[in-house]
Amino acid sequence: MENTHVGREFLKAYGWSRRGTSDQQKGVPMPAIQKALPENAQTLNLVDPAEFKVGNVAVLDVIKKRQSRRRFTNEPLTLEELSYLLWATQGLRAAHRDGRPSFRTVPSAGARHPFETYVAVHRVEGLEPGLYRYLPLDHKLCLIYQSDSLPDVVTEACIGQRFVAEAAAVFVWTVIPYRAEWRYAVASHKHIALDAGHVCQNLYIAAESIGAGTCAIGAYDQDAMDRMVGVDGEDEFVIYAAPVGKVPKE
Ligand SMILES: Cc1cc2nc3c(=O)[nH]c(=O)nc-3n(C[C@H](O)[C@H](O)[C@H](O)COP(=O)(O)O)c2cc1C
Repeated sequence: MENTHVGREFLKAYGWSRRGTSDQQKGVPMPAIQKALPENAQTLNLVDPAEFKVGNVAVLDVIKKRQSRRRFTNEPLTLEELSYLLWATQGLRAAHRDGRPSFRTVPSAGARHPFETYVAVHRVEGLEPGLYRYLPLDHKLCLIYQSDSLPDVVTEACIGQRFVAEAAAVFVWTVIPYRAEWRYAVASHKHIALDAGHVCQNLYIAAESIGAGTCAIGAYDQDAMDRMVGVDGEDEFVIYAAPVGKVPKE
């Protein structure tokens, strides 16, 4: 086994003693907490969290059932269900648009929330198939591009894991590392990885609560996934993914 040392060092907390002066300490303004919209972007409304009728299930029951699901039915997700899953994974608890950090339904070291959420929509009521990005500050979706071939593209990018194509939607999380580096410099990266786990765990829990399921995907082709979502692979790149779909009744 070569190079395991690099990975082991990454898992340790030494970044704290080695981090030097961060951009925040140098007085550099905080980076945006939500990526800017593409020019002429088409945005779509989601169901407001105050209106959710889904998800009223005992936490105990949901935690008991949680498992990685790799078999999905053909049933689409409703727009309310997708809204709920997006909100449960990155939605805001308290909205600040004035340069202050955001507080969300998941924890994040220093409230840096360094992720963007892309969704490959295969079958969601009211949405054309294609790639969308979630806008947590607005609780809206933004269309990146329409496509009927995403199930094949995303499966190939997930190195042939076929069940990904059968999902109703695939959540793909990118990271913008500078959001964390601005404050924590070299101490950021371990925390980014920890933060991503919280996001996906909320997806597991929320999905189970609506008769759906998910499976964390760590095995993917980095370049193919970055190409699919259209990011540069350096300042923003894919860190995690998870297909979601209704599951056969037990
Ligand atoms: C970080 C991470 C990456 C994973 N990557 C994959 C993957 O690429 N493909 C897959 O089928 N399952 C993947 N899984 C799911 C695990 O295989 C699964 O959690 C494990 O077998 C335990 O099963 P359970 O989740 O049903 O308890 C991943 C899980 C985690 C937490």
